[in-house]
Amino acid sequence: MYLQNIKLSNFRSYSYLDLSFSDKTNIICGKNAQGKTNIIEAIHYFSTLKSHRFVSDKELILSGCDAAQLQILFQKDENSTRSRKMKISLSKTAKRELYQNDIKEDNASFLGGFHSVLFSPEDLNLIKGEKEQRRKFLDADVCQIRPRYYKILKYYHSILRSRNKLLKEEHVDPALFEVYTDKLVEFGTEVIIYRALFVERLKETAKKIYSEIATGKESLTLRYESELFDEFVEDRQAIRDCFYQKLEQVKSEELLFRTTRVGPHRDDLEFFLDDKNVKIFASQGQQRTIILALKLSELIFIRELTGSYPVLLLDDILSELDRERQESLFAYIQNCQTIITITDAQKFEVPGAKTFLVEQSVVTEQ
Ligand SMILES: Nc1ncnc2c1ncn2[C@@H]1O[C@H](COP(=O)(O)OP(=O)(O)O)[C@@H](O)[C@H]1O
Ligand SMILES: [Mg+2]
Repeated sequence: MYLQNIKLSNFRSYSYLDLSFSDKTNIICGKNAQGKTNIIEAIHYFSTLKSHRFVSDKELILSGCDAAQLQILFQKDENSTRSRKMKISLSKTAKRELYQNDIKEDNASFLGGFHSVLFSPEDLNLIKGEKEQRRKFLDADVCQIRPRYYKILKYYHSILRSRNKLLKEEHVDPALFEVYTDKLVEFGTEVIIYRALFVERLKETAKKIYSEIATGKESLTLRYESELFDEFVEDRQAIRDCFYQKLEQVKSEELLFRTTRVGPHRDDLEFFLDDKNVKIFASQGQQRTIILALKLSELIFIRELTGSYPVLLLDDILSELDRERQESLFAYIQNCQTIITITDAQKFEVPGAKTFLVEQSVVTEQ
């Protein structure tokens, strides 16, 4: 994947931006709050149709404006001769619109067109942070590689909201409750299968990379954690049956607490080093190596799936990694286009890199 150009209008702090990138390393340098992450956010939005900062689309539009436009020009791989164009229109009053080569598309066909992997300081908190952060990590990645998942997940959340709303009513209509429960199980099972299969695939690569870059000899394992099974097996019917069974068991609890107590909205991603849960004992250094291995696995996984590396976005992360981890990172990413942001306090030079300076959302090429 080679991102050639991005154009933004009225996106975040940019009334207008037009940037062309090198196919190797690009460095965007600037003090805090000048607009570096805003560029990274715009690029990554094309891969996940969400802001990685988990804000609504409205907040992405320049204050005082009603709409924003984002456009990228890219090549799928080094053998491509034609560039593709993707465009997104965000509006405060109308529905989001998506275009690929000027043809209007829905979410599912748009997703999977442009791949990028983002690594930012918030990721370093993934292991010890809230469960929700790990679910969002999984969801963003699965959306990018399995476009159908976006709709399924959205549908699941809307059923969950409806079911929770019903549970809060004075009188819970049993017929409607049953309808919602059926849909919850149907879509919840799909969400679990998509996520768990992704973890199964990612875990092999993560294990291998961890053993290559870690100083210790421990072995890394990832596990999709759900109340519905101990070990994941791709058996749709078994998961559904167990889902119904658990819901039946917690029914009185649900009516008492007025909320849905079982489902993928409570699941988690767990990390183990030699069978020990990393959340409890891992040092800062081990956590950083695990996250680095995880990010590199995403990169390699997407390459295996699509035949080309995604664009790697390193937002303010290099200063968080020591020299050794930086070297491990660079050893893996030589063949991949990289867009790096740094604050100018840091000295960081890559021979042949294209460098930009950002000051108050004005970008100049160095
Ligand atoms: N919707 C918006 N409209 C106008 N300005 C915004 C909007 N969203 C964020 N900003 C501004 O963008 C700046 C932060 O940009 P960011 O890219 O996060 O900075 P950094 O260079 O530290 O990564 C802040 O000054 C903030 O006020
Ligand atoms: Mg930033």
